[in-house]
Amino acid sequence: FLTPAIATIVAYLIGSLSFAVVVSRLMGLQDPRTYGSKNPGATNVLRSGSKKAAILTLLLDALKGWVPVVAVKWWGEAWGLGDGSVALVGLAAFLGHLWPVFFRFEGGKGVATAAGVIIGFNPWLGLASLLTWVIVAYAFRYSSLASMVTAIFAPTFFLFGNHVAWTAPSTQVLALALMALLLIWRHAENINRLLAGKESKLGAKKS
Ligand code: G3P
Repeated sequence: FLTPAIATIVAYLIGSLSFAVVVSRLMGLQDPRTYGSKNPGATNVLRSGSKKAAILTLLLDALKGWVPVVAVKWWGEAWGLGDGSVALVGLAAFLGHLWPVFFRFEGGKGVATAAGVIIGFNPWLGLASLLTWVIVAYAFRYSSLASMVTAIFAPTFFLFGNHVAWTAPSTQVLALALMALLLIWRHAENINRLLAGKESKLGAKKS
């Protein structure tokens, strides 16, 4: 029996699967919370030197944002779940990544999970966001900067994209805006490092 509350809790639990930790453990790698930025995320797993582990982390962390959103989108109607619930489960998965119940509420910064949620909300917006990330990352070589810029662009694209394929219900725009705020707040240390010129560039190994 699927109510909005149950769907939200399930999405939060799925979001709580910290795949940076799980993948690293399964692949016999060091715990990402002990090196580099100490963040359980794909960028930090990349600093272990294992591209495979980083890509796997990225895909699984994105998937956990995407799955609840499309599940409610595709099958929610039968349970009376509408656009508001789509927004809610996306937000819940994102919050699960930031404060995972299975990992003492010490989670990551939500970039990959937000990407999955965005693609679930609207694939065209997902594509535009991915392109934004790649362009900023290519130009500046900072994963954190690319993530923050993209987080700001995602809800903005919706506001200006009404005439193209980027429309979304206002609840989803609101969820994206909230996710952007939390994501940037989670990057406080990165912002300090960027300003001090000490942020590690993409491709740099752990120290
Ligand atoms: O995926 C999070 C990214 O934006 C920054 O990660 O490890 O450099 O703090 P990190």
